[in-house]
Amino acid sequence: MTVHQIPNTQNLDAFWMPFTANRQFKAEPRLIASAEGMYYTTVDGRKVIDASAGLWCVNAGHGRREIADAVSRQLMTLDYAPSFQIGHPIAFDFAERLAAIAPRGLDRVFFTNSGSESVDTALKIALAYQRSAGQPTRTRLIGRERGYHGVGFGGMSVGGIVNNRRAFATHLPGVDHLGHTHDLARNAFSRGQPAHGAELADDVERLVALHGAETIAAVIVEPVAGSTGVLIPPKGYLQRLRALCDKHGILLIFDEVITGFGRLGAPFAADYFGVTPDLIASAKGITNGSVPMGAVFASRKVHDALMVGPASQIELFHGYTYSAHPVACAAGLATLEIYQKEKLLTRGAALTEYWQDAMHSLRSLPNVIDVRAIGLVAGIEMSPRKDAAGARAYELMVDCFNRGLVLRSTGDTVAMSPPLIVERSHIDDIVGILGDALKRVA
Ligand SMILES: Cc1ncc(COP(=O)(O)O)c(C=O)c1O
Repeated sequence: MTVHQIPNTQNLDAFWMPFTANRQFKAEPRLIASAEGMYYTTVDGRKVIDASAGLWCVNAGHGRREIADAVSRQLMTLDYAPSFQIGHPIAFDFAERLAAIAPRGLDRVFFTNSGSESVDTALKIALAYQRSAGQPTRTRLIGRERGYHGVGFGGMSVGGIVNNRRAFATHLPGVDHLGHTHDLARNAFSRGQPAHGAELADDVERLVALHGAETIAAVIVEPVAGSTGVLIPPKGYLQRLRALCDKHGILLIFDEVITGFGRLGAPFAADYFGVTPDLIASAKGITNGSVPMGAVFASRKVHDALMVGPASQIELFHGYTYSAHPVACAAGLATLEIYQKEKLLTRGAALTEYWQDAMHSLRSLPNVIDVRAIGLVAGIEMSPRKDAAGARAYELMVDCFNRGLVLRSTGDTVAMSPPLIVERSHIDDIVGILGDALKRVA
């Protein structure tokens, strides 16, 4: 037994945990020792089903031997080499393989190490594109209320969750936000995409009227907003957003950090909704969560607009020491092979009916005010307790963990996004544990 498996002898003080109530957690820790397939094993030896795919990232399930072998081989072949003015073949191989599964036309790939970096990279590429395309006044970035785009200053600024910004006072100037699309009055308990709200995309017109189209570089949205509690776009909304961005010469960025790599039953949300953005930010599922990595997919239009000037000139003064890290590329290639062999990028399509039925079966349980499910993702929203917003969902999450289920709580919603290898029997177990917990947590 290693020290990692003996929580009671472990000092938890040094690790300042991210997005965690540290003092509460350390008083009553939830520690995971190992994982395989659909399950974690806790330090005290309990098996818990992972209905979150880690943090929306372990799409092929835990403990994939093929990825471990590829990583180990790569470490002993080429552990590290930079990608600044020098290269290594596996980066080009991986980019080509990604381009082959990317939505049509988005076949230029810029590597990062996380979703936050992918978002900031996409925002910077959008600004550089507008400048290069002769529109240097287009410097404004538009996000959406309730959006989550990671924690860099760019992503935080276009993000629309106030708690993620409140403590940090400053953010990028010239940022504005579209209204969110959550509309319980009209859309509660919709199956899949809600019927009402396509017109909310017209908020682009409001911001154009307010700021002038000539000041706006890009609009960024999550096609399905995840971290804010799974908000599914109303029917026609994304199509309208695309049309309005085209009308006003604004680039459209999809943040597919969650929706990329099969979450909706299609390789990308752009495929699922039939709407092609100019840039896609991705991460998470790109390596099955095994090694940190992200990628930005750019259209030829955007990419080629920057490939100008003398050939000796660096076209984009941007990149990370670990962009296209060879070990991450090896993990990513092995991940793509699993996705392809097991058809995981589209597997969710066949299961979504069962998933939705299962989630909607919870609709009449205490305090449930909405059920939202699409592809293999779902959010169950509960009414907030008086003077204690978020407490109910948090308690539900803890109760579920103690009874064998990991899910995410955010605000008063619990969110689920199981590994794409999930079977019907797992879905039954998830709903069984969650249903019992909903009855217990008043
Ligand atoms: C839509 C979206 N964008 C960006 C991010 C940030 O990714 P990371 O935590 O890898 O920086 C996340 C993380 O959950 C996300 O859901």
